[in-house]
Amino acid sequence: MRTIFWDDDSHELRMIDQRRLPASLEIIALHSQLEVAEAIRNMTVRGAPAIGAAAAFGLALAADRSQAQSRAEFISDLELAAIVLKASRPTAVNLTWAVDRVLRIIHAATGPVNDLRALVLAEAGRIADEDVASNKRMGELGSTLINDGDTILHHCNTGALAVVDWGTALGVIRTAHEQGKRVHVLVDETRPRLQGSRLTAWELGQYGIPYEIISDNMAGFFLRTGQVQKVLFGADRIAANGDIANKIGTYMLALAANDNGVPVYSVAPTSTIDLSLEVGNLIPIEERDPEEVLGIQIHGERVAPAGAKARNPAFDVTPNRLISAIVTESGIVYPPFEMNLRKLAGTA
Ligand code: MRU
Repeated sequence: MRTIFWDDDSHELRMIDQRRLPASLEIIALHSQLEVAEAIRNMTVRGAPAIGAAAAFGLALAADRSQAQSRAEFISDLELAAIVLKASRPTAVNLTWAVDRVLRIIHAATGPVNDLRALVLAEAGRIADEDVASNKRMGELGSTLINDGDTILHHCNTGALAVVDWGTALGVIRTAHEQGKRVHVLVDETRPRLQGSRLTAWELGQYGIPYEIISDNMAGFFLRTGQVQKVLFGADRIAANGDIANKIGTYMLALAANDNGVPVYSVAPTSTIDLSLEVGNLIPIEERDPEEVLGIQIHGERVAPAGAKARNPAFDVTPNRLISAIVTESGIVYPPFEMNLRKLAGTA
């Protein structure tokens, strides 16, 4: 089952409500770009490629509901929808990438409004299909880095839930497992939203891949005692020099891995690479509601005393010197990333 899919009969966007997992697997229906923007903001759907695809289908909903009579009115409706969707979360570049890709198609097209509507939906569908194909490809390429018997430390959720289907870093682990390699996963619980213990653990259970959950502050212990062979995570935005914005905690994990000579691999589609930003410090970092830190998420139980304050940056930036390689659908990129990412994009 795909995390996000279009229902042709009802003209609705359907998605798994990731806030309900692992307690229940619920599919919800969305009817407008506003509902999609809210679903991205409140993390009903999350994960960089998943929110990109969701936003593209958000434009398809806007196109479907638009009352425009002329091409100019239609484009104006879509541009307004694009602004709302892009504003929902700032860090993952896949969101902007997907919205701009659909807008480009419409700007280049002519013909009656109904034809333009169909083009928007077709492009959103292509983005979703290509996402699945590129995840499978990253799985094949990335699995060459995994050895039989490896214990892999994984951060956040990068599985089928974070994309349209299959997964990025978790997709590599799935492929290695399907190839018969015995892999064991140490799952960072990933405070404060617990994407690891809620979502990654749930997915690994579905695939029959052995795992153990650890709290984030245990990672250094397992790395230092030689119990981890590889560290794997995804990415929300990769700057031109290979600095990587990813779920908060990734930087500390990469530091501890480097200190212990453990390779650090980021797995992300090329739509996550933002060559317009030279360095990672330029990547906008989302700061979320402090309540996510003050309590245990999902059940909303407050841990901190009344009146306590908190900070909640949702992502951090790992400098390129701490990354061993970046796995994309177009190939595995090694340092020097400044040169090799541009080569990959054909702009070197
Ligand atoms: O806040 P989230 O859960 O959307 O953050 C997700 C991550 O940081 C993932 O690691 C990243 O999107 C890559 S997943 C394919």
